[in-house]
Amino acid sequence: MAGAEGAKLWGGRFAGDTDPIMKKFNASIPFDQRMWDADIRGSKAYAKALEKAQLVSTKEMEQILTGMDQIFEEWSTGVFLIKPEDEDIHTANERRLKELIRAPAGKLHTGRSRNDQVVTDMRLWLRDAIKTLTDNSLQLISTMVERAAVEIDVLFPGYTHMQRAQPIRWSHWILSHAVALSRDVERLLEIKKRVNVLPLGSGAIAGTPFDIDRELLRKELGFDGISLNSMDATGQRDFIVEFLFWASLCLIHLSKMAEDLMLYSTKEFSFISLSDAYSTGSSLMPQKKNADSLELIRSKAGRVFGKCSGFMMTLKGLPSTYNKDLQEDKEAMFDCFDTVQAVLQVTTGVMSTLKINQSVMEAALSPDMLATDLAYYLVRKGVPFREAHGVSGKAVFAAESQHISLNQLTVEDLTAVSPLFGGDVSSVWDYRSSVEQYRAPGGTAKSSVAAQVEHLRIWLTKQTQ
Ligand code: ARG
Repeated sequence: MAGAEGAKLWGGRFAGDTDPIMKKFNASIPFDQRMWDADIRGSKAYAKALEKAQLVSTKEMEQILTGMDQIFEEWSTGVFLIKPEDEDIHTANERRLKELIRAPAGKLHTGRSRNDQVVTDMRLWLRDAIKTLTDNSLQLISTMVERAAVEIDVLFPGYTHMQRAQPIRWSHWILSHAVALSRDVERLLEIKKRVNVLPLGSGAIAGTPFDIDRELLRKELGFDGISLNSMDATGQRDFIVEFLFWASLCLIHLSKMAEDLMLYSTKEFSFISLSDAYSTGSSLMPQKKNADSLELIRSKAGRVFGKCSGFMMTLKGLPSTYNKDLQEDKEAMFDCFDTVQAVLQVTTGVMSTLKINQSVMEAALSPDMLATDLAYYLVRKGVPFREAHGVSGKAVFAAESQHISLNQLTVEDLTAVSPLFGGDVSSVWDYRSSVEQYRAPGGTAKSSVAAQVEHLRIWLTKQTQ
């Protein structure tokens, strides 16, 4: 006699019950219920294809559609009741449909497998998630671009190797991160093309033996294309890996930006101060204002990359087509979505509310950062750069030996290292004219930074069209 397993969708061939621990271990409903909407959309489209194939009557199709609408209502109002035998979102919705409409519910799964169903749900869900993350990213980029436009006249030290390198515009720094984020958006839209492909109609592995019109399913569900091979469609999760990698790279970018801001917000730098809205205090030290928002932004890159590498390890060496290992895909996908979304929103908040300390930023510029310009002065007088670099280095050495700054060297001191130095060398010691030399596209001169702002503004409007 069949045990209680007979109530399960796959219980027919079972005589014994599932061990309770195994039941819990096997169930994905605690997390895959997030795809309830996608699952209903997929089933409604499938019911239409079944009707076209004359596998359900028009009346039965209508019963299925009405039942699914009611289930939609239950989920969206939070009253859908998950029952102990609901293994996953697919079985839960079908179980409920059976309770609502009885016999015709049993026809919905004709020719369909949870293998093509789950991957259809995931592609629908991820497509919406990509739209949300694109919007969140564009919001952040736009915040940064507009801030860069407003603060274009602020100069501060640019660093390489964490050492003072050359004077740059603060806006140039902002835009350097915005540009990386714009590539992240482009990459996300690239991924969307490969996500937005219909797998439904692939069955468990071999395809469908019925006249299921996959073109109808594609149109109903708004997919751009139809999967070419049923084994690939049901067994591949490369589109998830691409998304996890995307999330990792996006957060690597944001962790770098957070790290810079954290340094700039220290007392030692004092270039910026974070808004109270994005800072926290210490339970012990009353004076503390900690940049927890930035630290958390920085930390999330590790978490997301962990999900990406962990899931890739799950995939490595799996045999072809569906294996239950693939159930691991969802928690990684949901967690990376939630994490990246939160990071993008918090970063937007941080970037729109932080205050800059212009006088401190500009006071941090020091004449040694103009040593390159001193070499360029000679280059403009015909000296080969390698030689000019050496001469400027000697001037730096002379200043250091005299314990004075580079711009305090007299013309005599300078002519001692090169006779080409003249009274006009004093023009080198101006930070504003220094940055103005960098007028070529991509540089830190005002015109070039303004061009970057314009470029990104146009790019932003194209993304939202
Ligand atoms: N919950 C399953 C998953 O997430 C659905 C697919 C189950 N397929 C199967 N053949 N058992 O992967």
